[in-house]
Amino acid sequence: MSIRIADLFCGIGGIAEAVHRRPKPTAIGDVSLPSCSQTNQPVIATAIDIDRSVATLYKSHHGITPRCSTIESLDRVSANASEDLEMWWMSPPCQPYTRRGLQLGSKDSRSLALARLIELIPSAEPRFIGLENVPAFEGSKHHQQLTQTLCNAGYQFREYKICPTELGIPMRRKRYYLLAKQSGNPLPDFDPSNSAQPLQNFIDPASWNDAALHVPSDLLQHYQTAMNIIDASSPNAVTACFTSAYGKSPIKSGSYLHCQKQNLVRRFSPNEIAKLMGFRENFFTSSDLGQRSQYRLIGNSLAVHVVHSLLSILFDE
Ligand SMILES: C[S@@+](CC[C@H](N)C(=O)[O-])C[C@H]1O[C@@H](n2cnc3c(N)ncnc32)[C@H](O)[C@@H]1O
Repeated sequence: MSIRIADLFCGIGGIAEAVHRRPKPTAIGDVSLPSCSQTNQPVIATAIDIDRSVATLYKSHHGITPRCSTIESLDRVSANASEDLEMWWMSPPCQPYTRRGLQLGSKDSRSLALARLIELIPSAEPRFIGLENVPAFEGSKHHQQLTQTLCNAGYQFREYKICPTELGIPMRRKRYYLLAKQSGNPLPDFDPSNSAQPLQNFIDPASWNDAALHVPSDLLQHYQTAMNIIDASSPNAVTACFTSAYGKSPIKSGSYLHCQKQNLVRRFSPNEIAKLMGFRENFFTSSDLGQRSQYRLIGNSLAVHVVHSLLSILFDE
């Protein structure tokens, strides 16, 4: 049986990409394929986002067109009363909770949509719930409301704070995750793997020749000490967290690459960041979105490797 997922605040579909990465069910008698639970195969059944610009890219990679709507205006998550959705995956805007924002939490209008979903949980009772946000979400009023609602509605849940570096990915992006389910065995701890991958594996050599990615010398002179510049050939290089401001703000929005041989500093391309985030190769290549939008969307998205591991915790235990 399929687990039908609602991808809420879908953006470019980090959860859909994690579902895509899962091994396909083993055919009977086929021993060559990796096995996975036949009963809990997740599929993305619906996706919702206020941002119309994600629709074409989402459809081309994940096969469905997201509904364009404000989530706080919905009476229910499903498109109609007969549609059954077993899981809600929620990655609401993090600005109400970030340290760089004003931390207005529930007073920030950008948190209304999450508040609405929390209200809808007791009547909709999805079998599974997942949520991703910045670590500072924990301890916020909405965190308290969500966990209280889950307790009252009889869910068991577990919270995690995970950085992709724990899975060997050379990129920092520590995030808060919550998994909840209505029944079954207690949710286990997250078991990180340690096989570190070098940054080189994620770099596209052709991007060194893309002049649009080169950092102009005047900008470099002005911001060099504040920019996070890493040596592209270092086996221990780890990038900072890429945010939606990458490409717009030169500081605190992600890392830059330095090539000693060419004495060149450049931005990561959107496709390179997407690869670090766990998306398929050349994720943006067929897209007609401008580069600035690509940076914004990938900076807002999910660390797919982490979400993929969390789906295994939820469905394969
Ligand atoms: C943190 S991003 C989530 C990214 C997404 N999960 C991904 O994998 O790319 C938050 C998303 O919520 C959307 N959003 C913000 N406010 C919304 C609202 N009130 N209703 C629906 N979507 C909203 C934004 O357009 C953005 O795509």
